[in-house]
Amino acid sequence: MSRFSTPRSTLALGVVMCTACFGIAACGSSNNDTTSSSSSSSGTSTTATKAGKVAVLLPDSKSSVRWETQDRRYLGDAFKAAGVDSTIVNAEGDPATQRTQAEQAITNGAKVLLLVDLDPGSGSAIIANAKKNNVKVIDYDRLTLGGGADYYVSFDNTAVGKLQGEGLVKCLDGKTKPVVAELNGSPTDNNATLFANGYNGVLDPLYSSGKFVKGPNQSVPDWDNQQALTIFEQMLQKTNNKINGVLAANDGLANAAISALNARKLPALPVTGQDATAQGIQHILAGEQCMTVYKAVKAEADAASKLAIALAKGETPTANQSVDNKGTKTPSVLLTPVSVTKDNIQDTVIKDGFLKVSDVCTGKYAALCTKAGVS
Ligand code: BGC
Repeated sequence: MSRFSTPRSTLALGVVMCTACFGIAACGSSNNDTTSSSSSSSGTSTTATKAGKVAVLLPDSKSSVRWETQDRRYLGDAFKAAGVDSTIVNAEGDPATQRTQAEQAITNGAKVLLLVDLDPGSGSAIIANAKKNNVKVIDYDRLTLGGGADYYVSFDNTAVGKLQGEGLVKCLDGKTKPVVAELNGSPTDNNATLFANGYNGVLDPLYSSGKFVKGPNQSVPDWDNQQALTIFEQMLQKTNNKINGVLAANDGLANAAISALNARKLPALPVTGQDATAQGIQHILAGEQCMTVYKAVKAEADAASKLAIALAKGETPTANQSVDNKGTKTPSVLLTPVSVTKDNIQDTVIKDGFLKVSDVCTGKYAALCTKAGVS
């Protein structure tokens, strides 16, 4: 409970917002960049360049609820506010479907794709086909390794992993030689590699010094929550339940670990997460999960949509950073993630409107919300 707490709140959130602003401020291209085609209430917008269609290609709805509950609404709102024609589709985990969706979008006149890839191969094929058709691609949230997208908008994903590693260390404070199990994200998602670099950067030295004990460590194909449950059950089986902390790469994987512990009637363990889902926050309130990572998807969607709108108007926006993608420098916007524990739920996800109190404080969680000052 209180040992799971960490003081990090509005200050860090300010960083998210500022990073977003800077990313965007650098985006406007030099001349005749009027705001958006929907702008004038008089209906006589004269100088606005007509923006082409933007298509958003989401990956699935099961590896994380974020894609349908957060990204879809924030991206949809941003394009609507700018009066830009957009479509948002979800490949439901099928790379072939995503390729078809991309082709269809281009046939229907899309000038810009926002792509969340499912694997580097299918993602690269989508980008190659877009290039052939003079369509720009923004890698949204996930960098398509070797794909050569025109832009990349995401969070600092190594920093996400670092927050998870540091969070777990705090939650395990006072434990002697705790055994840590790691449930990594999908091996085909470049983000999963970056998250692991971040948390292993914190944990590896502790394993080496003998302060922590490296337990079972496995990647979860496609971030599949069902498979994560089986994998974690096997981890418990193999170790005779001797696991003291779980580095789970997102809230879905955390939920799998928590379910396996509950099914065996084992006590709660420090478990990390990511995405600040309503379920993850409820687990935190109940003391079953020690932290999650909040990524302000609104800022991510806003940054990506600003770039997309400029590209759709035929402009060449600039970004304030660049990321190396297998030898190609990709103009990028990378936002700052924030750690969430029981102490700062109110000041982060609730204050931002990312989650509603009514999403979190249901049933038995109502009293826990009151106790944690979530209202
Ligand atoms: C995203 C995470 C998400 C995971 C599973 C990652 O690429 O950055 O936010 O939890 O995919 O969908």
